Amino acid sequence: MSFKTDLKYSDVTPRADYLNRRQIMAGLGGVALGSIAGPGFAAGQYSTDATPNTLEDISSYNNFYEFGFGKEDPAEYAHTLTTDPWSVQVDGLVDKPGNYDLADLLTGMDIEERIYRFRCVEAWSMVIPWNGFQLSQLLEKVGVQPSAKYVYFETLVRPEEMPGQKGASLDWPYREGLRLDEAMNPLTLVATGIYGEDLPNQNGAPLRLVVPWKYGFKSIKSIVRISLMDSQPQATWNMQNPAEYGFYSNVNPTVSHPRWSQATERKIGGGLFARRQETLMFNGYGEQVANMYDGMDLTANF
Ligand code: MTE
Repeated sequence: MSFKTDLKYSDVTPRADYLNRRQIMAGLGGVALGSIAGPGFAAGQYSTDATPNTLEDISSYNNFYEFGFGKEDPAEYAHTLTTDPWSVQVDGLVDKPGNYDLADLLTGMDIEERIYRFRCVEAWSMVIPWNGFQLSQLLEKVGVQPSAKYVYFETLVRPEEMPGQKGASLDWPYREGLRLDEAMNPLTLVATGIYGEDLPNQNGAPLRLVVPWKYGFKSIKSIVRISLMDSQPQATWNMQNPAEYGFYSNVNPTVSHPRWSQATERKIGGGLFARRQETLMFNGYGEQVANMYDGMDLTANF
């Protein structure tokens, strides 16, 4: 796995014209729009050189059960979601708990572009050029107390705008969690955009988690609550079926899902006859994350 160091935003997309004002203002701390080619958008050491999927792929084939179980349901129904105003409740073992307005939460965050591999537990994958900031920055801003060991996240509950929540298909809200060291890892991103535009609603607007070495379901969408805890939090798929979905859910080609192999994956957008690709341990991010799991049995802690 190689990481590109010299890729410029304009190399991957002509959509830079549409760079979102809110993201730029947050990322550059209020610098005028004329100077958007600033450090906030410098290509990072963390980006893959794999070819990104198109915005069309990324925003038309989704999992977002709040809008239904079909892959096309989120694109069809998520436009009804009101994402402005938006606030995030930050609570638990933090110095500065509160109900933060989105703009306040984004103030001071360094928005970067990160081109990440994305591997769903269902054995499909994409490469996505996210815009976002490191979760560690947000956690530093709110002040994590020494007793905190985990970070817990919740998605919005609003059945009148999220038709999938009218049924009891999942126990709402959608929940996820990370160990604190995972949350603080520089790869762990809070995404606010894709291709320099606001996140499409179906991708989890206005802000969602991205944890590229874990199966996609850990990357919780449309976050309204972040809570610091001293014990392992509940996570939706893990609660739903612990035999199939572990709390860690690190991408691991050697540990099969009980109903299918995880050794290979189908890259979305490759066409009908594209060959499956081999799945990489930690989705190719082992160099950055493997040491967090030293001494752990990753078959038992899948
Ligand atoms: N977050 C919420 N709130 N609800 C969901 O159903 N699906 C997860 C994850 N985050 C999901 C969610 C799953 S299974 C995957 S694979 C990714 O979102 C899909 O992200 P994408 O649609 O942006 O590719």
